Amino acid sequence: MLIATLPGDGIGPEVTEQAVRVLKAVTGDLLTFEQGLVGGAAYKAAGHPLPEATLDLARRSDAILFGAVGDPDCDALERHLRPEQAILGLRKALGLFANLRPAKLFPELADASALRPEVAASIDLVIVRETNGDVYFGEKGHRKTADGLREGYDVMSYNEAEVARIARVGFETARARRGKLCSIDKANVLETSQLWRDVVIELSAEYPDIELSHMYVDNAAMQLVRNPGQFDVIVTGNLFGDILSDQASMCAGSIGMLPSATLNSSNQGLYEPIHGSAPDIAGQGKANPLATILSSAMMLRYSLGKPDEADRIEAAVAKALAGGARSPDLGGTMTTAQMGDAVLAAL
Ligand code: NAD
Ligand code: IPM
Ligand code: MN
Repeated sequence: MLIATLPGDGIGPEVTEQAVRVLKAVTGDLLTFEQGLVGGAAYKAAGHPLPEATLDLARRSDAILFGAVGDPDCDALERHLRPEQAILGLRKALGLFANLRPAKLFPELADASALRPEVAASIDLVIVRETNGDVYFGEKGHRKTADGLREGYDVMSYNEAEVARIARVGFETARARRGKLCSIDKANVLETSQLWRDVVIELSAEYPDIELSHMYVDNAAMQLVRNPGQFDVIVTGNLFGDILSDQASMCAGSIGMLPSATLNSSNQGLYEPIHGSAPDIAGQGKANPLATILSSAMMLRYSLGKPDEADRIEAAVAKALAGGARSPDLGGTMTTAQMGDAVLAAL
């Protein structure tokens, strides 16, 4: 099986390297890895954040292991050349619309959460985030108002088919867990959200076994820190899901802990930590690689049909944490490579 590794920028290569070590240790020579250029690294080497060769590699692969993109040197480029376009372009080109972001507290990390340990302990949820639409992909641009002021705009929209297919993933995910689905929107203000809510309610007729609720996104942000244990599966749009998942990460201890899988309708997947390229700590061996290592476990489970190997990686991460493995974000001093070593030793 061919794995496209796309390390990208900043800490992307550092964390990806550790995940590849772990994948090799659990799968022997089952996987072939082929590396591609993405993000600022690709722009600097090849003039484009998502070169045709990388897109081709991604299409040919059985699964993609993605690090992170984003480079302050590139922030002034025209938008279509910025590193972030690589991840947006991959999601769109491969139809990767269902971004699953599980947030669960490893009990050993209760002290690392920004919440009181007894509140943090309850977090065990999955955010199902739509990643092919919303304000991310609507018409955008700059113009002048009638009185000559500069104005920027980004159009938010979802059609009913887009909502239904992600809502279905939400219902199915809930069915495989505790049977609760919370759809998060801003239907009190946004027409996009009203349509979202209507479509979710229509689809719920097919899922009488699922307990469906709806919540406005501002309340959801508050509820996530008040009592994260009330959520089982959250389904939401691209923008709200982006924001709420970073927030959920701190309930679970660190943004360096949260993995993700982004799937298309044929279950081809892109696997990446939810965090970015972290330019503030890049190149210093301070990055926590566990989110990426846990993303590789999701890859084994969702794209490669290797659930036992996925379980082994997750158990090894828990064992490494129980043994005291802590990078700086978790209050420790271990380097990125030492965190990888700890997981390998636990395996
Ligand atoms: P970020 O997630 O890169 O970093 C936010 C903070 O969290 C930083 O202080 C960073 O040091 C810390 N952090 C992140 N990952 C960590 C890890 N594994 N271990 C320890 N600490 C970690 O978000 P940002 O600073 O807003 O963005 C930086 C760049 O990354 C931007 O260019 C942004 O567009 C990009 N970005 C890319 C992705 C992606 O590739 N999918 C995701 C988010 C942000
Ligand atoms: C993420 C990131 C991306 C997003 C950016 C880098 C385009 O924040 O993967 O969470 O907003 O989807
Ligand atoms: Mn994000």
